[in-house]
Amino acid sequence: MNNFEFKNPTKIIFGKDSIAKITEEIPTNANVLLLYGGGSIKKNGIYNQVKTALKNFEVTDFGGIPANPEYAILMDALQVIKDKNITYLLAVGGGSVIDGTKFLAAVAVYKGETPWDILTQNIKTEKGMPFGTVLTLPATGSEMNSGAVITREETKEKLAMGGPGLFPQFSILDPQVVKSIPQRQLANGLADAFTHVLEQYMTYSVDAKLQDRFAESILQTLIEIAPTVLNDTFEYKAASNFMWSCTMALNGLIQKGVPTDWAIHAMGHELTALYGIDHARTLAILTESHYQFNFESKKEKLAQYAERVWNINEGTVDEKAHAGIKKTTAFFKSIGINTKLSDYTNDYEGTAEEIAKRFTSRGWLGLGEHQSLSPDKVKEIVEMAY
Ligand code: NZQ
Ligand code: ZN
Repeated sequence: MNNFEFKNPTKIIFGKDSIAKITEEIPTNANVLLLYGGGSIKKNGIYNQVKTALKNFEVTDFGGIPANPEYAILMDALQVIKDKNITYLLAVGGGSVIDGTKFLAAVAVYKGETPWDILTQNIKTEKGMPFGTVLTLPATGSEMNSGAVITREETKEKLAMGGPGLFPQFSILDPQVVKSIPQRQLANGLADAFTHVLEQYMTYSVDAKLQDRFAESILQTLIEIAPTVLNDTFEYKAASNFMWSCTMALNGLIQKGVPTDWAIHAMGHELTALYGIDHARTLAILTESHYQFNFESKKEKLAQYAERVWNINEGTVDEKAHAGIKKTTAFFKSIGINTKLSDYTNDYEGTAEEIAKRFTSRGWLGLGEHQSLSPDKVKEIVEMAY
């Protein structure tokens, strides 16, 4: 096992009717900016629950943060923070609203001139403006980690940021919010969380037995609950397992002491930036080709995954590993997610060259757990995903 340090300061408040507990978490003298997305919270009652909980607080609303949180809109929110002397941010939404809020928590205390530099120069925020979250969509794990991904339509860029000062102070996880989530987003949540685990697991063994089994158990739970979560009838038990699995998939725990990959995400963000494809679907597009391309260096772990997660006990290491890849693609398809770029756009010619060019210009010359995926290899993987 590799050396590691682990600190996760986010307080999780999990369970039925927990939104009312916001009141106990925000300082009474706070001047709160309530951030949300395109309006789903007004239809499903979450907005009213939050407003009721905040009735004794000074609160300004900022709605309209889109999926793949947009820099220009966040700059409008920054102006509100300055104009209203906001001291506390409350994100009510999925990964996009929470990520947008993290960016604002960083920018609100940033001394530099151009906030976008935080993304291009990878500036880590040691202490941001304090914020909490009410999660409305299990998927990203953003509710319990310190990372964010911000989009800029003007330049068709999507870049990651973060830092130890960007963990939410608290996150409210009420599985009842799952009731109003559309099928497309439920499938996205399942696929995103599944891939988060894969990115931290499908590398090479350092004999970290507990981390491996944490990862496998999250994958098994997601596979088990997926049909019930996607069923039209809401089921609280499945929703709560779904929600906690998504959080645990990316709150830092399973990646401690083990090598991680994250190349699928790096390439996937470019597909969202270029074509607006939902984050989770970009991952499903790239996973099979990434594992096929890197088969030799990942096959031991692929075979272990096939055995332990999919119960494939027959065959050689190579055969099991190939079967594991096929099972993964079949899982994405079983939840209604297509796995080829051409399923999403007819305009895919040249995508691989463009992504390789972008990685080269950013100096991203070696992705993956071995830092060996050079832009020319990235180009091949993306081409295989057409
Ligand atoms: O905007 P509203 O109207 O709220 O609707 C949203 C949005 O259209 C809707 N929704 C959310 N909760 C709902 C609901 N609809 C009905 N009922 C509810 N309870 O769902 C749509 C998608 O929301 P979004 O927040 O964009 O989805 P998700 O949570 O999948 O977040 C995706 C973003 O997170 C980033 C992605 O790149 C993408 O930008 N990620 C963040 C990560 C992190 N911070 O750790 C890691 C991930 O790998 C990912 O990159
Ligand atoms: Zn993701």
